Amino acid sequence: MNKDLIVLGIETSCDETAASIVKNGTEIISNVVASQIESHKRFGGVVPELASRHHVEQMTIVIEEALKQANVSIKEVDAIAVTEGPGLVGALLVGVNAAKALAFSHQIPLVPVHHIAGHIYANRLMTELTFPLLSLVVSGGHTELVYMEKHGSFKVIGETLDDAAGEAYDKVARTLQLPYPGGPHIDRLAHEGKPTIDLPRAWLEEGSYDFSFSGLKSAVINTLHNAEQRGEIVSPEDLAASFQASVVEVLTEKTIRAAKEYNVRQVLLAGGVAANKGLRNSLTSTFNNEPDIELVIPPLFLCTDNAAMIAAAGSILFEMGKRGTMEMNAHPCLDIEI
Ligand code: KG4
Ligand code: ZN
Repeated sequence: MNKDLIVLGIETSCDETAASIVKNGTEIISNVVASQIESHKRFGGVVPELASRHHVEQMTIVIEEALKQANVSIKEVDAIAVTEGPGLVGALLVGVNAAKALAFSHQIPLVPVHHIAGHIYANRLMTELTFPLLSLVVSGGHTELVYMEKHGSFKVIGETLDDAAGEAYDKVARTLQLPYPGGPHIDRLAHEGKPTIDLPRAWLEEGSYDFSFSGLKSAVINTLHNAEQRGEIVSPEDLAASFQASVVEVLTEKTIRAAKEYNVRQVLLAGGVAANKGLRNSLTSTFNNEPDIELVIPPLFLCTDNAAMIAAAGSILFEMGKRGTMEMNAHPCLDIEI
């Protein structure tokens, strides 16, 4: 009988310090996330220096807790998977160095993982991946359509030319004086309003799978300013609903078009904005009409940053022979295509 593969995942690319134990790349045994959101909230966004300091304070505690909750000793760990990028360099370095120290002292293989590969592989904790597949990755730092022909192979067929979807949500939320991170607040307001305000949809040139959200963001801000100058009041609910309708329509339309053109068998949703109810509903009803394409939407706790997704991606990469060395470094702008 084959022995189980036990992987410790470590994630510190932004504002969550996370560690997790995953068995055979598919089964979460423990998943510990220490969020720093409360510390960054009063600054209206993530402060990199503060993030690094919090990671240093939390890292060891979080790793110990992940091992304890899984009832696994470090000696039973077959590989340590860690996010090497992209992300905040100071934040990434904390996870990378913790992983290297553990790997060195216990002679455990290291596996460097791309953060977005992690978001995509969060789906493998739900169901087996069927290739070829397409993943819509929507987070605070990324908006990408990633095509995968097989495990470990990533081809970016579309990406944002300016703001990421989550970034646009957070900026619009700030204009509406909502707390950070604003995505969930806009999502909630959107469901209380109606999309009555005409806002642009950035389709870009014919056939393009790229995205652009900065024009939409400016249109929201202009709508508010113009109304203010005329002494009128814009309903925040209707503005949120109109903004969300534009984002969701473009994301859904480009995803279904790419899924058909690339003849994929599965479509995976990934990243923090995957928690958006409007997007989940729109993709679900669109793909209900496509019986040959399976749509996979992870539960909320696997959409936002966590280390189970890093362990899941790391497990596959480990089996494919990928290893990190003691020279391993953090790569803030790491490319997913190799
Ligand atoms: O993936 P993630 O946790 O961190 C990054 O790697 O960026 O994504 C965080 C982003 C934030 O911009 C947050 O506002 C957004 O995800 N977000 C949402 C929702 N929940 C989180 N955006 C829209 N609707 C939501 N329900
Ligand atoms: Zn993320």
